[in-house]
Formats: sequence, structure tokens, C-alpha cells
Amino acid sequence: MNSEPDYLNVDLKFSGADIPSGKMIWRSPSNIALVKYWGKKPVQMPQNPSVSFTLSKSCSETVVSYSPAVSGKLEMEFYFDAMRNLLFEAKTAKFFDGLSGIFPFVNQLKFIIHSKNTFPHSAGIASSASGMSALAMALCDMERQFFGTLRNEEEFWRKASYTARLGSGSACRSVYGGLVVWGETDGVPGTSDFYGFPVNEGIHEIFANYQDTILLVDAGEKKVSSRVGHGLMNSNPFAVERFSEARDNMAKLLQAMRTGDTKTFIRITESEALTLHAMMMTSQPYFLLMKPNTLQIIERIFAFREKSGLPVSFTLDAGPNVHMLYPAAFRRDVKRFIDNDLLPFLSAKGYIDDRVGEGPEKIL
Ligand code: PMV
Repeated sequence: MNSEPDYLNVDLKFSGADIPSGKMIWRSPSNIALVKYWGKKPVQMPQNPSVSFTLSKSCSETVVSYSPAVSGKLEMEFYFDAMRNLLFEAKTAKFFDGLSGIFPFVNQLKFIIHSKNTFPHSAGIASSASGMSALAMALCDMERQFFGTLRNEEEFWRKASYTARLGSGSACRSVYGGLVVWGETDGVPGTSDFYGFPVNEGIHEIFANYQDTILLVDAGEKKVSSRVGHGLMNSNPFAVERFSEARDNMAKLLQAMRTGDTKTFIRITESEALTLHAMMMTSQPYFLLMKPNTLQIIERIFAFREKSGLPVSFTLDAGPNVHMLYPAAFRRDVKRFIDNDLLPFLSAKGYIDDRVGEGPEKIL
């Protein structure tokens, strides 16, 4: 197993009256897993490796303002869409508190954080990956700016990914663009359980600008948090087989993506999506996260693929929305398919025309 980077550094503290004030802004994307992470071990380590596409349009934009804390310990206010959000505030304060060995300076600051998402509010799209990765980027950026460390690009992004993981596992994959693996993977040197690792080299060009149209079936709140979902895997009777299947799927999927084998890509990604849901259905308590319209859409994707011969497939997150995946060359055909066949099954929020993106961006 890869060893954990030693990020504990007591020197990352401001001395005396040198505590700065200022702000920075990072935009960071969400990602969609192709092989799913579902089940974890302490501390925030995956039971199996996973791989995702980083998205382009579905992002969090987070303004982190900081000034000296008057109390001498971490202080925080968190605003989401310009409204104070005590739930996110408590989550973020807990996240930062847990990072005080890695970034001791957080205890000397008052943070005022303003975050918003570029995707519709309550669209049923998880924002923890984009939100936590944006915060991790800001903390590493502060370290680099004020302490002169993390000058080496690889170190900077790696520490950001490591930090994001501690906020939300899948967030560590959002730190890089394109195709990103999290979890030590046989035959893929550099991969680690501690951080994400981009694996874009040698991937067939058909996947370069892959599209992910997110069909919003149900805009409601998540039925079950991912923390609870991961926990259910500790007692799921199929867990051990699932973890070993995921390892197998990683090898097969990456191989298919190197050779441009869309058939295998489709078979594995769709099976992964259904397996994730099957795990929820076979847990105690059990959860059914698909809606009737999720199945209506999946059936129509099968039929469309059969009829058109186009490599259009689906994946699912831990919710009812359908991510439709396809090469950029077929955008017009898929648009027609959505307009003709899928609109009646979508919620009022419609769909998000997303695609594979480049990763986080510093705005200020
Ligand atoms: O990062 P978390 O703890 O929110 O878990 C994410 C789990 C899935 O989105 C369902 C799968 C994945 O690998 O992203």
C-alpha cells in the first residue's frame, strides 16, 4: 500500500501580529464516477478504487475571506447563495477543525465563506465534491501564498486532493481534470488511497471530450446521505464481492478506455450504476433511490442505443437523476433524442448539458 504523505507541519502558523486579511476565490467542478466508490474505512479511505470524469459546468464557486480570529481559535460564517447556512457552516467548521494539524493556521483565522453552485439549487446534484474541493484548493493556495511551501505544482495539487478527500471522499477526484482514479489500482502506478491521480495519458480520443447530459428526474433533497450509505456497506451481505468486482471493473474499464472500446465502457459503467443501487436495495435498512422516471429514461436509452447503434449510455449517482454519457460527435443526435423522447420524464429543472472538464480554476 502507498504510504501516507506526512502533511503535519506545526510551522504553518502565523507569528504574532502577522495574521493576514484578504480573500481568494476558487471554482471547482463536480465529478461523475464510472466505477463507484461505495463503502469506506477509517479515515475516509475507500474500500475499492474508483474512477470518474471531472465535469465542466457543474461547479461550486467559493469565496474564502479571512482575517485574524479575535477569539484565538477558528471562527467561521458560511453563506450559501448569499444566505447564512448553519448546516454548511457546521460541516465546514468540522472539516477545518479536523485539518488543524495539516494547516495549523486555520485556528488563527476568522473565515467568511460565500459559496454558490453553477448548477440549479436542489437539483439533486451532490455538491460536496465540488464544494469540498474548492475549499481544499483555497487552503492550499493560502499555504503557498503565506508560507512559500507547495511551490512544486505536483505537490500543490496532491495536497489539495488529499485535503479534499478528508472533506468528502469523491472530492479528491475533482481536483484534477479529465479521468481521475482514487484508490490504489493494480497496474496503475501513482494511484493511492490517500488522493486522486489523473490517468488521462493513453486514453483513446473518443473519451477526450465526452458528454454528460444530466437528466434531472427529481429535484428533491437526497433521501440518504452518502455518509449513511457508505456505513451501510459495513453490514451489506454482498459487500466483499462488490469490492472485488469494483477492482476487476477498474482494470477492464481503463483498458477499454485506452483502446476506445465503447462497448465494454458501456457494459461496465451501466453495471456499476446498477450495482451501486443494488447495494442500497440490499442493505438494512434498504433504500430505493430510483424513481419511476429514472427507469423510463433508462429503458429509452437502451432502445435508442439499439435503434441508432450510437454509443450512448447512462450512469447514476446515489439518486434518481440519470447521467447520459456519449461522445461529443453525437451531440445533435442525442439532443434530438432528448427533445423527442425524454422531456416528459424530466422535472421542471430540465437537464444540464455537461461534459468532461479541466478541473479547478482560481478566480482570484
Ligand atoms: O464522496 P462521498 O462520500 O459523497 O461519496 C460519493 C459516492 C458516490 O457519488 C455515490 C460514488 C462516487 O464514487 O462518487
